[in-house]
Amino acid sequence: MLARRGRGDYTYTMNRITIVGAGRVGESTAAILAREELCREIVLLDINEGVPQGVALDIQQSGALLRFDTRVSGDTDAAAMEGSELVIITAGLPRKPGMSRSDVLDANLVIIDGIVDDVLRHAPDAMLMMVTNPVDVLTWYAWRKTGWPRQRVFGQSGALDTARMTSFISMETGYSVKDISALVLGGHGDAMVPLPRFTDIAGINIEHFLDGETIGRIAERTRQGGGEILALKKHSSAYDSPAAAIASMVDAIGHNRRRIQPCVAVLDGEYDQRGLAMGVPAVLDENGLVEIVELKLNAVEEADFRRSAELVRSDIGRLPS
Ligand code: LAC
Repeated sequence: MLARRGRGDYTYTMNRITIVGAGRVGESTAAILAREELCREIVLLDINEGVPQGVALDIQQSGALLRFDTRVSGDTDAAAMEGSELVIITAGLPRKPGMSRSDVLDANLVIIDGIVDDVLRHAPDAMLMMVTNPVDVLTWYAWRKTGWPRQRVFGQSGALDTARMTSFISMETGYSVKDISALVLGGHGDAMVPLPRFTDIAGINIEHFLDGETIGRIAERTRQGGGEILALKKHSSAYDSPAAAIASMVDAIGHNRRRIQPCVAVLDGEYDQRGLAMGVPAVLDENGLVEIVELKLNAVEEADFRRSAELVRSDIGRLPS
């Protein structure tokens, strides 16, 4: 997987990454991955003829100014994903203000179903990163449909939710985000579980800096973080921060970093859960999501986690068997 360039630099860690969906999240993701040279070649796929090609050209031309050599192409033919080490699925309908992520399940299930068929046909050895909402349910669905090991089928949400919590803590305290390490588990919905007990600034628990009421307010704002942006923008969900969250996972995988990040993982008894996928801390390396880190939660955290799991499970119950 590692391709050396120059003086032993692991500049291009993966050869080809396909991003399915050239909407806002797909476009932003392609731009970051290209700029960071996280792979040699990015294929942007979309069903709207001209859109992926146009988006790809635009990003490609930014490379002359930003000085990256990543190749970016767009296509409407799923066969273009052939040879990809990683397929990132962002395609689907975004929610509208007032909608929950579950409200787009039926529409997005049909879309994801077709895309997973394409992946099985054209990129059967790839890893699959799910982004489309409701991401926990669709990660579970994609994992079940592929029959692949769970290390190759996982989703992005916790990196974004944690970034939101980190940002709010930085905004509240004035301290650098570089020293803040937060943790958000659970489903990517309003019942996600921010964990202040596992959140620190330079190793010092946030309770040293913030009172309980402020921490509670930050946790609630984190839970509503996606909705807050959607309500403000009205015609679009967040896309820059989701793209950065995806890129951080790609970086962990591509550089074989063994980073611990909250990811949407298929659970098989961990956290006392099975038969669903949801956000838990996991180790990412070149083989994908290789380990789940099980934390000892206290009674309140565990109850919150279980409640979040039940919501994911009830959406999974809506899936065709
Ligand atoms: C968000 C949507 C994309 O959290 O789920 O912004």
